Amino acid sequence: MKKRFAIALVTTMLAVPLLALTLRADPAEPQESPPNFGGAKDVAFAKKLWTAMDGYQDWKLTSEVYKGTSPHGKWLRLFSTWVTVDGKHYPIIIKDNYGGRGVTKEAVDENPDQWLAAVTIMLQREQGYDDDNDNWYWVKYDKAGQVLKNPKDMLLAGRVAKGMPRGCIACHGQADGGDYLFLND
Ligand code: HEC
Repeated sequence: MKKRFAIALVTTMLAVPLLALTLRADPAEPQESPPNFGGAKDVAFAKKLWTAMDGYQDWKLTSEVYKGTSPHGKWLRLFSTWVTVDGKHYPIIIKDNYGGRGVTKEAVDENPDQWLAAVTIMLQREQGYDDDNDNWYWVKYDKAGQVLKNPKDMLLAGRVAKGMPRGCIACHGQADGGDYLFLND
């Protein structure tokens, strides 16, 4: 009798959390977790970063203007170094994306600012920022340093768009070598 009672008790104890789990896993439930990007912290970091990377067009590690692929601009140029934000040093890769009617390589070489359409960034944050994705912080600015939005009106700064089928992380996750970088493939 005693044993049976114990088994019944254990079964009930197990059943309750299992039931809770089943309820929580219900796909019809609305998503409760906050989005992974575009929040106040990520946008504040983007603002400081824009200041920290002032003058990047004169950095030594700069590529030629090269032909781009979708979804980035028609012509592109990379800049890379380390930047300091809030006293911490981070490796960064900046990509200037040039476009516009009649854009050519020569025109961009001559007057890059005129054709600059967007500035896309990958910056490697501290451990724990996004361990699932090598701790990359992503941001897309317009040429004046304003963070741009996606069609869903979400600001493109932070872990963009973690867990979603399209966006910076999903696409760069396909780069060879599993390092999220296409430039070294
Ligand atoms: C559909 C795929 C795709 C998406 C989405 C995408 N990228 Fe890229 N990205 C590429 C490819 C391909 C390259 C390399 C070729 C080139 O430069 O166009 C690249 C290059 C880069 C580079 C230069 C470093 C490297 O990997 O070569 C940066 C920085 C960058 N992307 C930032 C971003 C940011 C920020 C976002 C999101 C706002 C984003 N990308 C979204 C495909 C994508």
